[in-house]
Amino acid sequence: MSQGGEKVTATSLRATKAAGERIVMITATDCSLARIVDDAGVDIVLVGDSLGMVALGYDSTLPVTMEEMLVFTRAVARGTRRALVVGDMPFLSYQVSAEEARRNAGRFLKEGGAAAVKLEGGAEVAATVASIVAMGVPVLGHVGLTPQAVHAMGGYRVQGRDEDRAREILDGARALESAGAFAVVLEGVPRRLAARITAALRVPTIGIGAGPECDGQVLVLHDLLGLYGGHRPKFAKRYAACGEEAGRAVRQFCEEVRGGIFPDEEHSFD
Ligand code: KIV
Repeated sequence: MSQGGEKVTATSLRATKAAGERIVMITATDCSLARIVDDAGVDIVLVGDSLGMVALGYDSTLPVTMEEMLVFTRAVARGTRRALVVGDMPFLSYQVSAEEARRNAGRFLKEGGAAAVKLEGGAEVAATVASIVAMGVPVLGHVGLTPQAVHAMGGYRVQGRDEDRAREILDGARALESAGAFAVVLEGVPRRLAARITAALRVPTIGIGAGPECDGQVLVLHDLLGLYGGHRPKFAKRYAACGEEAGRAVRQFCEEVRGGIFPDEEHSFD
């Protein structure tokens, strides 16, 4: 889907892959940031559970709750006009039972204003994905490095370097496609594996730390803008230094208030 024009939907993205156009996805955490990324022409705005780290200050995504996700999702949905808004299902919102997964997925649409949900996992979540899709909720899959499984993976490590794990990730992506996922995020996998999966699927792949052969790319907005002070992985290219710029502005404000410079005539009422 090219910049500008019609609203992006889960179904329109398949045509984007067929046309050989790249898909752009960026995370957002509030209405103002959503407006910026939507106006810039991204296709998908993801309310990722990475907000647990970049907005809530947790040290992983595991503590994030449904209620927290819904607050952020509503704010992002209010700031988005054209892009597809995807709500990220937090840890424990879909793993315990298919019934809970369906209810929580539905809440993202009903209470959060999202138009789709994302959840992590391959073949082991395919039946859950199928049951969510069957009730009319588009699902974005997510395989490879799945941050909610950080303890099982022994850390945030590139996945699929050996053939057994690579085959497991490929089979997982295929299972998600068969279950009705409209696209699959490939995170933290070698680019050759991402290329293999991208060629094997009819639905688009969206990479993060997965090389250039994917059908689209996603980054966390706080990494892209230089707003997050925590660990920045190798793949997270910084396109701006907004953190430094914000710090400079606030320091100037402090100086002007303390020096009696602000507010001046221009910023006061008679
Ligand atoms: O939570 C998130 O931001 C994500 C993306 C990195 C894909 O899952």
